[in-house]
Amino acid sequence: MDKKLIIANWKSHKNIYDARIFMEIFSSNMGNLNISNKEIVLAPSFNLLSEVKDLAEKFDLPVSLSAQNISSFPQGAYTGEVSADQLRDLVEWTIIGHSERREYFKEDDEILQQKTNEAIKAGLNIIYCIQNSSQKIPEGVQAVAYEPPNAIGSGVPDSPLHVEKVFEEIKNSFSGKVLYGGSVDKKNVRDYIHINNCDGLLVGGASLDPNSMIELLSQW
Ligand code: PGA
Repeated sequence: MDKKLIIANWKSHKNIYDARIFMEIFSSNMGNLNISNKEIVLAPSFNLLSEVKDLAEKFDLPVSLSAQNISSFPQGAYTGEVSADQLRDLVEWTIIGHSERREYFKEDDEILQQKTNEAIKAGLNIIYCIQNSSQKIPEGVQAVAYEPPNAIGSGVPDSPLHVEKVFEEIKNSFSGKVLYGGSVDKKNVRDYIHINNCDGLLVGGASLDPNSMIELLSQW
């Protein structure tokens, strides 16, 4: 069955304690969830990855992990950075090019290409975020997430009709998975998951609470 890829992007939320609570509630309440049509990926910040991985194994949860970002440099003397190589045992995926990275950390196409190269060398799968269909998509990316900045965290998602049009444009030159992200929640998720060519969703705010995440995942 065609599994929809659902990425839970926790951004800079949660400490270890919050992450433990999330994992406990998520694992005890996901019993009735149909997971045969979903691939669930949790993307906590770096400080939580090891704990979330241990708990996912302990609770035998059908989830994989993603980083939210990686260094554009290899492992080495780059204080404060986390290289793709350091993450290869912790995560299967990394997000690259999220609009918050582009806006607040001035990541441009060149830096994002370097990050993509690092991820590929480390064997990580990439969820590459673009804000419109004319943005460059590097070679070797497994999934592209269309995330218009105005829709992110605003409670006002892009219209399903427009998302469908953008997906079509992306699919003209990209053969991997195409996801939508921006104010997806349990109430509107069905409007997006069934769009033509939709391979999944990138969910921010609505993924922070384990019960609201389960409700969102229960909608199809
Ligand atoms: P949002 O965030 O669901 O809170 O709008 C999505 C994202 O930025 O990935």
